[in-house]
Amino acid sequence: MSSKKPTSKKEPPQTVKGMHDVIGSEYYALEGFLEKASEIAMYYGFQPIETPVLEKEELFRSGIGEGTDIVDKEMFAFRTKGGDHVVMRPEGTASVIRAYIEHGMQSWPQPVMLYYKGPFFRHETPQRGRFRQFTQFGLEILGTPKSIADAHVIHASAVIAHEAGLQNIIFEVNSIGDKECRPRYVRELANYYKRNAGDICSDCKRRLKENPLRLLDCKNEKCQGVKENAPQAVTTLCDACRKHFKEVLEYLEALNIPFRLNNNLVRGLDYYTRTVFEMVENPDDAESEESDTGEKEAKSPPAGKTGKQAGNSEEKSPRWLALGGGGRYDYLARQLGYRKEVPAVGASYGAERWFLSKDFERMNPRIVKQPKIYFIQLGFDAKLKSLGIIEILRKAKVPITQSLAKDSLGSQLAQAEKQNIPYAIIFGQKEAIDDTVIVRDMNTRSQDTVAVKELAKYLKGMK
Ligand code: HAM
Repeated sequence: MSSKKPTSKKEPPQTVKGMHDVIGSEYYALEGFLEKASEIAMYYGFQPIETPVLEKEELFRSGIGEGTDIVDKEMFAFRTKGGDHVVMRPEGTASVIRAYIEHGMQSWPQPVMLYYKGPFFRHETPQRGRFRQFTQFGLEILGTPKSIADAHVIHASAVIAHEAGLQNIIFEVNSIGDKECRPRYVRELANYYKRNAGDICSDCKRRLKENPLRLLDCKNEKCQGVKENAPQAVTTLCDACRKHFKEVLEYLEALNIPFRLNNNLVRGLDYYTRTVFEMVENPDDAESEESDTGEKEAKSPPAGKTGKQAGNSEEKSPRWLALGGGGRYDYLARQLGYRKEVPAVGASYGAERWFLSKDFERMNPRIVKQPKIYFIQLGFDAKLKSLGIIEILRKAKVPITQSLAKDSLGSQLAQAEKQNIPYAIIFGQKEAIDDTVIVRDMNTRSQDTVAVKELAKYLKGMK
C-alpha cells in the first residue's frame, strides 16, 4: 500500500517550460505554412522524409560536434530502459544523412533531394522566438558538391519566404573553407584570440582550447569587440573554395536573391564546410527603430548588393532573430563513420520565428473546412438517427458544425447566426418519425422540408 497521502492543494497541470500547446488559429497557421512550404519543395523535386524524434546521442555528438552549444548545453538526453543513450532530436541534418546512409540512398540517382518538417528540441532559455520545442522546415540536397545545389537551396528558401509574405528577408552568407584551407584559418583565428585572451569571456577561453571556430558563435557582450576584428575566413580560402563561393554568389546575383557577406558567420554547428548562410529580416525595415541593446542599427545595403560587413543579427538585436540557416556539410557522412564522403547542402527554418514577422501571411491548410451547415438536433429520437444523417452530409462533402450539448432550438439557431453559417438543418422529433429534415437558409430564413433519402441530391443543388 502506498503511504503517500493525497495532497489537497494540487497545482493544475501545465506544459513543460519552453513548450506550448498549438490550438485554433495558431494550429492552422502552422499547418498552413508547413503545407505551403512542402508543396513548393515538391515542385522543385524534393521528396518528403520523416525521421524519428529520438536518435542515438552519438549521432549528434559526432555530427554537430563536441564544444558546440547544442551538444554541450542544449540536448534533451536520457537513457532508455534498455540502456541506450538517446536524445530528442535538436536538428534534422544529422538524422537525414543517417537515413541516407542507412537506406543506401547513395545507389539512388544523385543528388537525393529531401524535405522534412516537425518538432525539434533544445534546452535553451525560453524567450521571444526561442523555445525548447519548436518547429523546423528543412531542405537537404545530398550527393553533389556543385555550387548550383547551394544556390538551389537558398533560392527555394527565398521562394518559400516570399510565398509566406516575408518581403524583406536577406541572406547573410560566408564561406568557411574546406579541409585544405580551414586549418590555416583556424590557426590564425586561435593566434588572434590568444593575443586578445584578456578581453574574452571564460566560455571563449574554453572554446579557444577545444574548438576555436566556435569563438565566433559567442554572444557575450564582452567578446563582441574582439570578434568584430577577428581574421576573416574568406581571406584564407584555397582556390577551389574561392571558386565555389564566387559561383554561389553569382547564382544569387543572377537569381536576384538579396544577400550580403557576413565574415563572422560560422554557424553554431561543426559539420559545415564552404558555404554557410542565414536568412534574416532585412534591417532596412527597422531603420528608425532602436535595437533592444539601445543602439541604432546601420541601414543595410539595397537588396542584391554584396560586400557589406554584417554583424550577427541575433546579437545586435534580438528583434532580428535568424529565420533559419544552413550550409554545406561535405564531411558529415565521414564524420559519422561512413566510408565515403557525401557532399551535401541544406537549410532549415524555424516556423515560430517566421510567425514573429509582421509580414508573415497566415495560410489555412487545405484540410480546413468552413462549415456550411449548422446541424440542430432536438430530442432523443432525433439524436438516435442524427449520426446517420451527418454521415450523408460528410459523403456529400458538406462540412458541418453542431452542438451536441445544447437542446433548445433558439439557442442552436443563435449559435448558427453568431458563427455566420449559411444554412441550418433542423432535425426534431417529427422529422425523425417522418424521415425528413428541415433545411433553413439562415439569411432569408426560408425553410424546406427534405426527405432524408433526397438530402444528398438536394445539397448538390445548394450554392
Ligand atoms: P540552426 O541554425 O541550428 O540550423 O536552426 C535553424 C533554425 O531553427 C534557426 O535559424 C531558427 O529559425 C530555428 N530555431 C533553432 N533553435 C530554435 C529555438 N530554440 N526556438 C525556435 N526556433 C529555433 C540547423 O538546425 C541546421 N540543421 C540547418 C541545416 C540544414 N544545415 C544544413 N541543413
